Amino acid sequence: MRIILDTANLEDIRYFHTYYPIEGVTTNPTILSREGGDVLSLLSEIRSVIGPEKELHVQVIETEYERILEEAHAIVDFLGKNTYVKIPVTEVGLRATKALSEQGYGVTVTAILTAAQALLASNAGAAYAAPYVNRLENICADGIGTVADTAEIFKASGTKTKILAASFKTAKEVLDVAVAGCHAATLSPDVLRRFLAHTTTDTSIAGFSADWKHAFGDVTLLDLLKKR
Ligand code: E4P
Repeated sequence: MRIILDTANLEDIRYFHTYYPIEGVTTNPTILSREGGDVLSLLSEIRSVIGPEKELHVQVIETEYERILEEAHAIVDFLGKNTYVKIPVTEVGLRATKALSEQGYGVTVTAILTAAQALLASNAGAAYAAPYVNRLENICADGIGTVADTAEIFKASGTKTKILAASFKTAKEVLDVAVAGCHAATLSPDVLRRFLAHTTTDTSIAGFSADWKHAFGDVTLLDLLKKR
């Protein structure tokens, strides 16, 4: 399952782009509002940090069909290739998804809460359908099951639409959607950090260092290799 970073914070994007195997960045109006300031400079800076080959997902603000198309074209003109236009799963959103997909634009249909909505997004030609996992789990609904059902439906139809699961609050939710056959997940910096962290990994590494030092002192393996 591919991992994308769900933030517009430049410091976090620089950090995770350097250390973690992320394949792009997702934003939405709420995520952008947290950073404030000049939103166009911010988006342009995000693109320059991640480079032209990684995915950048930017959500439309417009709600009328013609205006959504115009905004989508402008977003991709501004941010270049591998930019995905996020469109909420409404009737107008599906109409815009059909048109933009036919024109060759990558559309991420977002705010998906049911496998039925995901199926419609797929039939409209979306590149991605983005189910909101924790928003479902948080109201005692089955976010993981929704992703699992969607994965089954997409597999059966052979659609090219991929699942980009979103809205995670725990590392376990992320692992569960991976097991359920999800193609990609977008994680906040905090959840991605917790996806890696394990205290036993830390103590194992400390043990390796201590054992080496006990046997060989301060010399490192690299020192020995360079001297031979
Ligand atoms: C993707 O960018 C989604 O909009 C985002 O993951 C939603 O997350 P939230 O439910 O934590 O707001």
